[in-house]
Amino acid sequence: MATKRPDLQRLARGIQRCRACRLHESRRHAVPGEGPRAARVMLVGEAPGEKEDDEGRPFIGRSGKFLSQILTELGLARDQMFITSAVKCRPPKNRTPRPDELDICRDRWLDSQIDAIQPRVIVLLGGTPVRQLLDETTKLNELHGRVIKKDGRTYLITYHPAAAMRFPRIAAAMRKDLKKVRRLLGNSA
Ligand code: URA
Repeated sequence: MATKRPDLQRLARGIQRCRACRLHESRRHAVPGEGPRAARVMLVGEAPGEKEDDEGRPFIGRSGKFLSQILTELGLARDQMFITSAVKCRPPKNRTPRPDELDICRDRWLDSQIDAIQPRVIVLLGGTPVRQLLDETTKLNELHGRVIKKDGRTYLITYHPAAAMRFPRIAAAMRKDLKKVRRLLGNSA
């Protein structure tokens, strides 16, 4: 018998109330993520920054704008994707999320969000979601552009837009990696 898909709105409400790790202590707003339940592409970043924490919405700061620009250039519609991050609460001073925070947020929320959406492709933006979801610690320089299938899910690895924003070489690599999204969807993004 098919198991019931988790309810995305219910997960979002749970995330907004979550106190399962220390990150809830300093957040203003948890950021569940946004996008349609029927999204075929899911983007997973690292963690909300200051602006996201202020407003409770993902990727609305500088790196988010840069991400939107790259997606538009590639003809990929951001509003048809589900966009979230590895952890849903801003770490103090934007430090990297710790292993226990990543594990807790994956087990409580991210895995269920993926099950709710069942995307065709999960794009991992930067090393943090790669470690969290693939348990892979090889350098991103060697991993980016790879498509990995694991437990019935398809992952595409690329850089985080904050890195791409600072280094043109990384932005070029990210564009090239993201071109694979269309191919993975069968050319209909
Ligand atoms: N970086 C992320 O990984 N997520 C956001 O929401 C914003 C910046």
